[in-house]
Amino acid sequence: MQPRFLAFPQGFWWGSAWSAEQAEGRGNTGKGRTQWDMSWDRDPHRFYHGVNTDITTDFFHRYRDDIQLMKQTGHNSFRLSISWARLFPQGDGEISPAAVAFYRDMLQEMNANGIKPFANLYHFDMPEAMMLKGGWENREVVAAYVNFCDACFREFGDLVFHWFTFNEPLGPVLGGYMEDFHYPNVIDFKRGVQVGFHTLLASALAIKAFKTHQLPGKIGIILNLSPTYPRSEHPADVQAAKYADLFYNRSFLDPAVKGTFPPELVDTLRRHDLMPQYTEQDLQDIRDNRVQILGLNYYEPRRVKARASAVNPDAPFMPDWYFDSYVMPGRKFNPHRGWEIYEKGIYDLCVDIRDNYGNIEAFISESGMGVANEERFIREGQVQDVYRIGFIQNHLAYLHQAIQEGCNIKGYHLWTFIDCWSWINAYKNRYGLVSLDLATQQRTVKKSGEFYKALSDENGFYF
Ligand code: BG6
Repeated sequence: MQPRFLAFPQGFWWGSAWSAEQAEGRGNTGKGRTQWDMSWDRDPHRFYHGVNTDITTDFFHRYRDDIQLMKQTGHNSFRLSISWARLFPQGDGEISPAAVAFYRDMLQEMNANGIKPFANLYHFDMPEAMMLKGGWENREVVAAYVNFCDACFREFGDLVFHWFTFNEPLGPVLGGYMEDFHYPNVIDFKRGVQVGFHTLLASALAIKAFKTHQLPGKIGIILNLSPTYPRSEHPADVQAAKYADLFYNRSFLDPAVKGTFPPELVDTLRRHDLMPQYTEQDLQDIRDNRVQILGLNYYEPRRVKARASAVNPDAPFMPDWYFDSYVMPGRKFNPHRGWEIYEKGIYDLCVDIRDNYGNIEAFISESGMGVANEERFIREGQVQDVYRIGFIQNHLAYLHQAIQEGCNIKGYHLWTFIDCWSWINAYKNRYGLVSLDLATQQRTVKKSGEFYKALSDENGFYF
């Protein structure tokens, strides 16, 4: 078949994403410690090759040159996060003028170079002082977070027009209270439910604060959503998929976009005595302060089947009481990260948002492929990551189809720009359009970076 040109809508946002903790390094503004410093103190052996977040990709010192590299790789937009612990080293109290100056300068530089900064206000990086108070389990921390957001709107509201309250609020619940990879590393779903509720409340209250500033921009949330597929059409498998979808997708999507929690979720939580503490005013705030834009992080689908074994009623409740995960035979698979690659999932996700969430303005806020030992693919000094180009093209072809069919998708951001630090995996898997030599901090555009530039310049590609 002749390749055809897949053109994207005019003004499509081409870019990439990362977060403060994963890319900035400590810098010299007197940044406060975060939950990652606490994890490092307690469990340094858990961090791949013993690399912590002290330096990472050193964006703090190198942002001017890196912004040029953004241009060189076709960015017209870029998502970063503002570090709460940098702005407020103690989580609340005195704001750091040096941190304000750093972010203002960096955001100005981005705008001056034609790159729209998208600012996310929380990316798994609780300040230590707040974590010591119980983190998202403690309602006082919600107020401190809203105070931090308010300061961001005041200090940077003239430079940022796309705001996000959270990246993947499911992350702290999963990592911190279910699967043991984020601080405080406990297994207690009830406490996790409280964390989830408080983050949703915090998001709504941040949106409320945003509205009082009457800024020209928009505010939303970024959710990691995995379209969920049953093993078969058998009713038990279908029911299993409904539960998984409820716990992992709709639990955050419904309150964020519709302002209400799915009744089946509430029933299930009540049945297991897992309801969080809340007030009627909290529910009202969540109803009144819905997101205006949605970021969709899509990496892999979720496949499930009916549970094969009986649950142990004495064991503490976990969502997987209702389903087992299912490995589809013949699936495409990234062995480095252990994630299935299923490109059509991006289409199914967008169609779901179109049909069930009012076709709210959205964009792909993360999509990407982490590969270990990429130096294997260096030829003439450049990583020839043709697999990443294929990964992007295959996803974009489905995204293009979704847009053709009326999905309100405004952009695509790859994870990530320059190889950056990952939660515990550190620099094991590389995701960037630009490679990083950890020893020298030298950056080199990969083959995919060149592809991305052409893609953005032409606003589409032959497929
Ligand atoms: C996303 C996160 O879920 O996945 C990023 O928002 C993260 O912070 C990315 O780095 C890739 O996952 P990982 O665990 O391989 O870094």
